[in-house]
Amino acid sequence: MTDFLWGSATAAYQCEGAWHEEGKGLSIWDDYFHSDKCPAHVENGDTASDHYHKFEEDFKMMKEGGQNSYRFSFSWPRIMPDGTGKINPQGVAYYHKMIATMRQYGIEPNVTLYHWDLPLSLHKKGGWENIETAFAFAEYAKFCFHEFGDSVKLWATLNEPFYSLLCMYGSGNYPPNVKDAQRLLHAAYIQMYASALAANEFRKLENIGQLGIVADIHPCYGVDDSEACQFAVQMADHIMNNWVLDTAFKGYFPQQLLDELAKQYDLSFMKEEHRAIFDKGTLDFVGLNYYNRAYIRPYTTGESFVLVNNSGSKNSGIRETGKVKRMMVVKNMFEKIADPNGTFTEWDFEIYPKGIYDAVKMVQKKYGDLPIYITENGIGLHEKLINHTVDDTARISFMQRHIDELPKAKKEGVAVMGYYVWSTFDLYSWINGYDKRYGLVYVDFAHENKRYPKQSYVWYKNFINNWRELYETKYGH
Ligand code: NOJ
Repeated sequence: MTDFLWGSATAAYQCEGAWHEEGKGLSIWDDYFHSDKCPAHVENGDTASDHYHKFEEDFKMMKEGGQNSYRFSFSWPRIMPDGTGKINPQGVAYYHKMIATMRQYGIEPNVTLYHWDLPLSLHKKGGWENIETAFAFAEYAKFCFHEFGDSVKLWATLNEPFYSLLCMYGSGNYPPNVKDAQRLLHAAYIQMYASALAANEFRKLENIGQLGIVADIHPCYGVDDSEACQFAVQMADHIMNNWVLDTAFKGYFPQQLLDELAKQYDLSFMKEEHRAIFDKGTLDFVGLNYYNRAYIRPYTTGESFVLVNNSGSKNSGIRETGKVKRMMVVKNMFEKIADPNGTFTEWDFEIYPKGIYDAVKMVQKKYGDLPIYITENGIGLHEKLINHTVDDTARISFMQRHIDELPKAKKEGVAVMGYYVWSTFDLYSWINGYDKRYGLVYVDFAHENKRYPKQSYVWYKNFINNWRELYETKYGH
């Protein structure tokens, strides 16, 4: 492996397409979009970027763009159509071919086992609210470790447990479209148990590389230093970051949070007999998806809520109360608000580059010298193809400002090992559809998914070619 990984990332459901080809089973998303639960105007990932058929073209483009690693996910139902038991040989052959091709182009695979496409059969039996799903996940992970362990050296169990479950069971904008904090907590426990079970399987094998987890990281900043605000920040940090990271790297959930939660919720799903699995199930590296920070103030009033802007029109993810723009409230704990002086994207994501530095420093402080990969960082924009390219100066500036925070942290001893732009090419942005574009490469979804490198692709290529000298001049190493 080269010493620093510069790459880009995607996820199976968001780019593969081929939703019903070559023996693939259905996921919770396929079911949702092909049922009357889904409103007619909502776009789906049936074809997405057609990466299933175009992967070689994509790897060639990555190679020409100087990238040496690709973070992607396996589709669980493509490998195990029912989530457990029977294997789909065509799905397995597909991933073998894809990995062999990326290696031919000198690209290191970084595989995430679960990026939200839960097999439908498991969902029908309760999904992440049923402990059987955790056992099924461990079975699937074990199969993948054995099958692909020779060619994949970087593995992650789950992608963004906090954010995905928040959308599934908090804001309810992802299937199964539930708004119920009690159910959310239960699912969030089972997912972490699933990750720990998979890690226990991984430890039985030798020389198969490293296993991590990919977390959405939200460095939390208080509006002031008052005691009430410090408590709010602590609670926000526990819920958004430590629930996943403490469990993955220390082996158990943050006790202070459990004590607070126990005042409002039934935590009897947490079983003493699971503790040994969590204890032995800690991981080797952390993948951080950094998009924005959390600006926090103490809880004031009202029931818990969380808003998500899926429309791409500013302020639709915000509820104004007086002069305060609230984005998320957890009753009796904290409120996440929009900084009145902040800069925001059309999807209400604050642009805050220093947060990536604070995030990696925070991880080092809490968990020691863990290898850290920035597994996603990028900006969603409304874009148009003009003269076969996209002049995405806003993305270039976003990437430059974020990447620029990393050498300082590295110089201070933080083990940052790689950086992946989200995303390799334009893809399906879940409930946001296709208009929220993140790619380094434009995909013309209306015309056979033709690819056109954007200006950011060219910028990233030049940057990768020159980063050593650039950082030497700037940071002297
Ligand atoms: C994080 C997720 O991992 C990915 O699936 C999503 O599309 C990006 N964030 C952009 O919102």
